[in-house]
Amino acid sequence: MTALTLLIPGGTGQLGRELNRQAQQAGADVRAPGRAELDVTSAGQVVSAVRELAEHARRRGGRPVVINAAAYTAVDAAESAERKAFAVNADGPRLLAAACASAQVPLIHVSTDYVFSGESDRPYEPDDPLGPRSAYGRTKAAGEVAVLASGADAWVVRTAWVYGVGGSNFVHTIARLEREKETLRVVDDQHGSPTSAEALAGGLLQLAERIADGQGPEQRTLHCACQGSTTWFGFARAIFEELDADPERVQPCSTQDFPRPAPRPARAVLSPRSWLAAELDPMPAWREALAAYVRKHRDELRAAE
Ligand SMILES: NC(=O)c1ccc[n+]([C@@H]2O[C@H](COP(=O)([O-])OP(=O)(O)OC[C@H]3O[C@@H](n4cnc5c(N)ncnc54)[C@H](OP(=O)(O)O)[C@@H]3O)[C@@H](O)[C@H]2O)c1
Repeated sequence: MTALTLLIPGGTGQLGRELNRQAQQAGADVRAPGRAELDVTSAGQVVSAVRELAEHARRRGGRPVVINAAAYTAVDAAESAERKAFAVNADGPRLLAAACASAQVPLIHVSTDYVFSGESDRPYEPDDPLGPRSAYGRTKAAGEVAVLASGADAWVVRTAWVYGVGGSNFVHTIARLEREKETLRVVDDQHGSPTSAEALAGGLLQLAERIADGQGPEQRTLHCACQGSTTWFGFARAIFEELDADPERVQPCSTQDFPRPAPRPARAVLSPRSWLAAELDPMPAWREALAAYVRKHRDELRAAE
């Protein structure tokens, strides 16, 4: 079988790096430009990058797919910069999808659990109504709608609480706080599924393979997060345990104790049903994925800024 030929906008982010690493390892032909090389808000850059991908794949007999890992992910900052976030999270995917439709290249677009209100007491299915509570969530929801309405051969994959190398993420923050503070308080009333960029990238690449073979799932919106759920407090304690630190040093508190600019969904757990129905490999349990991440990156975590 010929190799995948991938374009990964946002290639320098947590997910983009991991997609690039795993795809190269699997023998794919990958271009993973960062924002400086491919700004998804620039129609001209987007059109020529997708066109080049299609031509390159045709010359090489490869199977082209775009996986969009570019996003404005600063959830709190987005509250006062919604237009900027909208440009990256909604206009960018719209431009990418239009370019993919015109070049007949399939697109996988990554989205978030924050498109939901978090008021449901059961895990969210892909077709549940959207109800974003934050500017970030609204812009990501608009991106999903634009991609699915574009006429492109496109899939939206929602994920949650992502951590990986190169990001300012919760695992690295907690590892730093473990060194700096005797005790810390972490919110215990927001529930979600911590997801390693490594596990997510593996899932997305499996999906890309299927799509490139013309075997893409019928369902156009899928949920892909590590299995099980916890709170930020539970996540922080687990990180302490993996770092061989005393988890009792982490104490629970409520969201009200730490007001932030952006409201978060209280319970935005993503159901794995759509992923499994598409016969994609089950994602690992969040606790196992965390243990694997800490084992692999212990030195970086010890030095985390
Ligand atoms: N992180 C999470 O907890 C989380 C949770 C749920 C869903 N997601 C979704 O997962 C996907 C990947 O997120 P991530 O965690 O990998 O985020 P990330 O580490 O912040 O990476 C996003 C990348 O997008 C780039 N970018 C920003 N503006 C751009 C533009 N105009 N053109 C091209 N690239 C641009 C960023 O570059 P700069 O650094 O130069 O700005 C960054 O490299 C996103 O769709 C995100 O919404 C993330």
